[in-house]
Amino acid sequence: MAAATTTVYPEAASTEGGRLSVGGCDAVELAREFGTPAYVYAEDDLRARARELVGAMERHHAPARGRAGAADGSGPRSTVAFASKAFPCTAALRLFREEGLAVDVASAGELHLARRAGYGPGETIVHGNAKAASELRAALGCTIVVDNADELERLSRIAGGEQRVLLRITPGVSTDTHAAVATGQADSKFGFSMADAPHAIERATAAFDLRGLHFHVGSQIFDEQPYRQAVAALATLGDFPEYDLGGGFGVAYTAGERSVDLDARVGAMVSAAHDLLDAEAKPLTIEPGRALVAAAGVTLYTVESVKRNVSTWVAVDGGMSDNLRPLLYGSPYHADVADRLGGETVCHLAGKHCESGDVIARDVSLDDPRPGDVVATPVTGAYGHAMANNYNGVPRPPVIFCTGGSARVVVRRETVEDLHARDV
Ligand code: LLP
Repeated sequence: MAAATTTVYPEAASTEGGRLSVGGCDAVELAREFGTPAYVYAEDDLRARARELVGAMERHHAPARGRAGAADGSGPRSTVAFASKAFPCTAALRLFREEGLAVDVASAGELHLARRAGYGPGETIVHGNAKAASELRAALGCTIVVDNADELERLSRIAGGEQRVLLRITPGVSTDTHAAVATGQADSKFGFSMADAPHAIERATAAFDLRGLHFHVGSQIFDEQPYRQAVAALATLGDFPEYDLGGGFGVAYTAGERSVDLDARVGAMVSAAHDLLDAEAKPLTIEPGRALVAAAGVTLYTVESVKRNVSTWVAVDGGMSDNLRPLLYGSPYHADVADRLGGETVCHLAGKHCESGDVIARDVSLDDPRPGDVVATPVTGAYGHAMANNYNGVPRPPVIFCTGGSARVVVRRETVEDLHARDV
């Protein structure tokens, strides 16, 4: 089910008197104290989304991993694995681990971060369509989601029969999302095709502890149908002890956009798995990334210049180095002056980078923006920090966690010295 959203700021934010505060911390004060650009997160929202998803799995399926009722590891269990690519940040990983979530990693680097955050192999799922032998070696003991036949052979030279494995299946379903993040269609770089799956299942059964099958139909998915179709496709491949149904739950980036009702989405996925995969008593995993973190994050910038030609251009001290999503996917964002929310000056919020495409948000309405104003762009908690870069020698922003009126830096701002730290 997808419903329209009316607010774009975190639940633990206030917009009273036209002034933004996040987790009880005034946005302009945060900008003064920590500088801009800065990724500011409402810690309570991260926890709330984790609890919502764990609760939904428990309601619709079974007690969750690591929670009372599943402690003996025998009964049916539910796993919510955070897709760490959405926000690869140690503090967030620690927080989600405290909330009973497992973790999904997609490289040796993400695996390293997950380990530092305390994740053990039993709670780590390892993805990737081009895993190097060194990555497979580092992942031994974790659940490895094997993507292709070459990897199956490579892994069989490294791992023994006790290695827990899932096979990633490309179910051949189409999704209504940006082509760059659609993964369920037959012509995909990810996973085993339906035609190749039976042979892979045979090979994996002989070589490993094949636990079951995995699919991920894509990202920013608002409809239930692709998940049902994917479950139906998996059902034709046999009966397995467990299943991983992937992530991809869509979020609203601007007011009026649809957002996925997480309880309804989990309910629909789980009931499809119960109906078609005979999964009432089997372990089931979901792998949300964006839905856990996107709406918890707000980016703060400072306005450097305002100019008028055909349009009004409000230029800030960040841009495509801290948020690539507008350029990569044409994603829309909302923006406000942090202490004068709303307003009627229609403008483009431009970044500081040396190309015309570096526009964070087009046709946003700000309240008479001026140099020195702090501007906030909400729903920047997913894939912003993750895809940040140093284009134009711009150091990457810090990550600030806010709760109950106090703020702490969990990732420091990069310095210009960091820019040459790898020089030899
Ligand atoms: N599981 C697998 C195997 C995945 O590949 C992904 C995302 C997820 C779970 C989590 O998907 P989510 O729940 O976050 O939609 N950079 C893009 C998103 C790429 C997603 C890649 N895979 C963006 O900024 O929209």
